[in-house]
Amino acid sequence: MTQHSAAWLDKVLYHETTILSRLDELARQITEDYRQRQLTVVAVLHGSLFFAADLLRRIQLPLKLETISVASYHGGTSSSGTVRFNQIGLPPVDGRDVLLIDDILDSGRTLHAIRERFLEDCAPASVKLCALLSKRCQRAVELEADYAGFEIGDEFVVGYGLDYRGHYRNLPFIGTLTSDAIAGRTGYAGVVSA
Ligand code: IMP
Ligand code: MG
Repeated sequence: MTQHSAAWLDKVLYHETTILSRLDELARQITEDYRQRQLTVVAVLHGSLFFAADLLRRIQLPLKLETISVASYHGGTSSSGTVRFNQIGLPPVDGRDVLLIDDILDSGRTLHAIRERFLEDCAPASVKLCALLSKRCQRAVELEADYAGFEIGDEFVVGYGLDYRGHYRNLPFIGTLTSDAIAGRTGYAGVVSA
């Protein structure tokens, strides 16, 4: 039984075991869809790190891995509306089937902007989108994930890569924060013992 310090944790939405069995399904689907293709996975930093690491180890294909760094959130719990690319160049994906991986599809602006950049600046064979979570009710641009782990409601979540002001990424589960934690009145997650 896992114990959590309670002051910052509101509730657990998805335990690690639930996440990993969903990744088994997603990986099976991706493995099937990209057989005989030239797959390059582009993981969006930092939020997709844990998701990408666990998902890619389940995909049974000779894929390539690249990363891209963007910022669309600036510390709060709602999207800023602008997407800033933190590097000048894009990874080499000409002629490759690109699968963009992010932690969450919220307004959709981040993956939309990245996909547009790849389509404009490179000559990929295809570009598809994969997100661990999707908040369809928050969408500001018309965009759907080709592969999505879980559909969630309009709530701010942390853990398994997702952060609040840079913290909580290393939680093994996905959960919501108490209003005290969001207001900064509690310490950060540190006590998560198995
Ligand atoms: P979008 O551009 O609005 O789709 O936002 C995507 C980015 O916002 C994600 O890569 C996350 O970094 C961040 N984000 C959106 N919703 C959440 C959340 O509930 N928790 C933590 N980060 C989030
Ligand atoms: Mg992020």
